Amino acid sequence: MTKLNVGVIGAGSISELHLQAYQKLGDAVQIYAICDLNQARAQEKAEKYGASEVYDDYRKLLADPKVDAVSVCTWNNTHAEISIAALQAGKHVLVEKPLCRTVEEALNVQQAVRESGKVLQVGFVRRYDANAQLMKSFVDNGELGDIYYAKASCIRRLGNPGGWFADKERSGGGPLIDIGVHVIDICWYLMGRPKVVSVSGNTYRKLGNRANVRNLSFYKAADYDASQNTVEDMANALIRFDNGASLMVDVSFTLHAKQDETVVKLFGDKGGLELEPAMHLVSEKHDTILNITPQTDQKGLNVTAAFQNEIRFFIDSCAAGKEPISPVEDGVELMKILCGIYESAETGREVRYDN
Ligand SMILES: NC(=O)c1ccc[n+]([C@@H]2O[C@H](COP(=O)([O-])OP(=O)(O)OC[C@H]3O[C@@H](n4cnc5c(N)ncnc54)[C@H](O)[C@@H]3O)[C@@H](O)[C@H]2O)c1
Repeated sequence: MTKLNVGVIGAGSISELHLQAYQKLGDAVQIYAICDLNQARAQEKAEKYGASEVYDDYRKLLADPKVDAVSVCTWNNTHAEISIAALQAGKHVLVEKPLCRTVEEALNVQQAVRESGKVLQVGFVRRYDANAQLMKSFVDNGELGDIYYAKASCIRRLGNPGGWFADKERSGGGPLIDIGVHVIDICWYLMGRPKVVSVSGNTYRKLGNRANVRNLSFYKAADYDASQNTVEDMANALIRFDNGASLMVDVSFTLHAKQDETVVKLFGDKGGLELEPAMHLVSEKHDTILNITPQTDQKGLNVTAAFQNEIRFFIDSCAAGKEPISPVEDGVELMKILCGIYESAETGREVRYDN
């Protein structure tokens, strides 16, 4: 079997999980090239993972005919540009979440996917988690009936990573586009991907990055700089869909909350489910409410295993032309939701979409 030559563009934190997963698929994959604006960072990863080619410009990597597929692990402001260039150069693409920063960029990526005929998988990694797939099988088998309400929450009380994450120009926004995208997406995926018809949202910049807080550590970007912060620290929204279902969301980088909290809950006319903070099913039988706890190896999200599944699925899609679990069309719909929330917050009005 010929191995697929993979290039990884962006050699920062998340590239590590991509590279570990590619390495485990050594029978099918050759980690061939690494690219980063920071050449030393790319070089370090290349040495660690045995890549023969190192680039500081993604265009040079894409011009290399030996590259079959790429992971795009760069700042959000470059996702669309690099993905489109990669597709046009005939490469398959796994692009990290969010797909990009705007609906316009998302539609351009979608057009490039359709014109190229290449695979593009959006890195909605939570979809590839074993528990999420288990819950999806319950939904698909009708256990919840008609799902009409969902709740997605990702609250960090102290967790603005700074660096490019806190620079709206490069990130496209704060907790909503960075961590909100994950919980909104997994709810929406489990709801059956209904079309969004309206969004009403609020964003707040009340607390800043709270770099003053002592005695409590939090994740910081490599280029953390407390003086730089142009993103919201909190967002909430109500999203309506064409099937009448609604999704309520709240997310934060900082909030006067007692603790961090991730919530993913869905409610149907036959039953309910909770994926986060832990898996439960809720139903009614013989006039009695039942809370059911699926017995699985892992109670919550297994990040490493989810990345392994995501990358394995990507490689299978490249080899067999299989439709991704997270196609570009879903990236576009998520951008409509995220950008709708930002627009609604800015204008103070509901944003409506004609489908
Ligand atoms: N799926 C997840 O759970 C998850 C988790 C973390 C980050 N991410 C996503 O991964 C992406 C990267 O995040 P990170 O945490 O690794 O950030 P990071 O800052 O650690 O790394 C980003 C790297 O990209 C490089 N880069 C930026 N623009 C580039 C360009 N044009 N060409 C080449 N290299 C470029 C930077 O030099 C940096 O080394 C973001 O889109 C983020 O949203 C996803």
